Amino acid sequence: MGVSFEQARRDGPAPEIAPVSTAGSKGMSLKFEIQPATNPTSEKERAARLVDPGFGRIFTDHMAVVRYNQAKGWHGARVESRANFPLDPAAAVLHYAQEIFEGLKAYKRDDGGVNLFRPDANARRFWNSAERMAMAPLPEPVFIEAVEQLVRIDRAWMPGGEGSLYLRPFMIASEVFLGVKPSAEYIFAVIASPVGSYFKGGPAPVSIWVSENYTRAAIGGTGAVKCGGNYAASLRAQAEAIDHGCDQVVFLDAVERRYIEELGGMNVFFVFDDGSLLTPPLGTILPGITRDSIIALAKDSGTRVREEAYTIDQWRADAASGKLKEAFACGTAAVISPIGKVCSTTGDFLISGGAAGPVAMGLRKQLVDIQYGRTNDPHNWIRKVL
Ligand SMILES: Cc1ncc(COP(=O)(O)O)c(C=O)c1O
Repeated sequence: MGVSFEQARRDGPAPEIAPVSTAGSKGMSLKFEIQPATNPTSEKERAARLVDPGFGRIFTDHMAVVRYNQAKGWHGARVESRANFPLDPAAAVLHYAQEIFEGLKAYKRDDGGVNLFRPDANARRFWNSAERMAMAPLPEPVFIEAVEQLVRIDRAWMPGGEGSLYLRPFMIASEVFLGVKPSAEYIFAVIASPVGSYFKGGPAPVSIWVSENYTRAAIGGTGAVKCGGNYAASLRAQAEAIDHGCDQVVFLDAVERRYIEELGGMNVFFVFDDGSLLTPPLGTILPGITRDSIIALAKDSGTRVREEAYTIDQWRADAASGKLKEAFACGTAAVISPIGKVCSTTGDFLISGGAAGPVAMGLRKQLVDIQYGRTNDPHNWIRKVL
């Protein structure tokens, strides 16, 4: 039995990131039909690919797929062999970029089990992204079930050590129609990619380029949701960062062009000499789940955290005066990346002498230990899949 757009809409999304139950009125679920791959990767080949998986280049044998149309609502939930989508050249996504995605990871515990970290928060953000992009929102339990089913069937692809299984849920507009309007049909899918440790030999500080020519998001735009178009529009700025010898780009606000917003794919934090943390407020930035988790962990330990606007000029001045002790970027892929150097057309400056700072490293360890189940989980963030 499918779940209609209207039914899903009536039950409504909850705001921001908060724990969500998969039961009750929002507990609309679908039964997944499981069709294991008939010709899966051999054990030998899989082991060879897992030696040095890198990021996002190798994939597991299966995918989860759920379809939407106005007559049936969400239906046809399946876990099946990973394969190409037959897509009509007039499919709406190919023309107007009605597309959203998520990114989360499954972590192997020492006892051989598997943890997901806050998948409910990803499900909720996916719902919010769908609403902003005028797409059919996917009931959160269906999102979580799709992710869990895929992890279960492809558990042999879980890397050990500091590796993880990166999960990529996404939704595309599949209606065959060239008019500019919300699509009447969607495909939701989840694919999985084993990934190695983001930083071999510990987190290396990154250098970032302050984008003066490009902005990422404006008030009323799509900066707070995870749609593919945001990333397409950031590529030119990221290329400029690389041209200037930097690892990443940091965007400023689109109105005054002086407030720090976020990196191309990570949120940012500042650490001051009184031990307090500051991070740019929500609005035009992506509400990162790592960001939210860091705020919670810092507050647990009595650290003052401000969600306040911070200018590039203040950043430079605080780094020079010593008031700023550390800066770091955060997100699912890298967890926490210390920022060692900031470069711009008006000159470069170092932070904590260009080295990784203790606050960034301490928070990173706390978070990673929770994700891998090595310590207790005071906020109930972990969902054991296996
Ligand atoms: C633009 C942007 N900001 C921040 C983040 C960090 O979000 P999260 O911590 O949920 O991975 C991401 C990664 O998803 C991102 O793409």
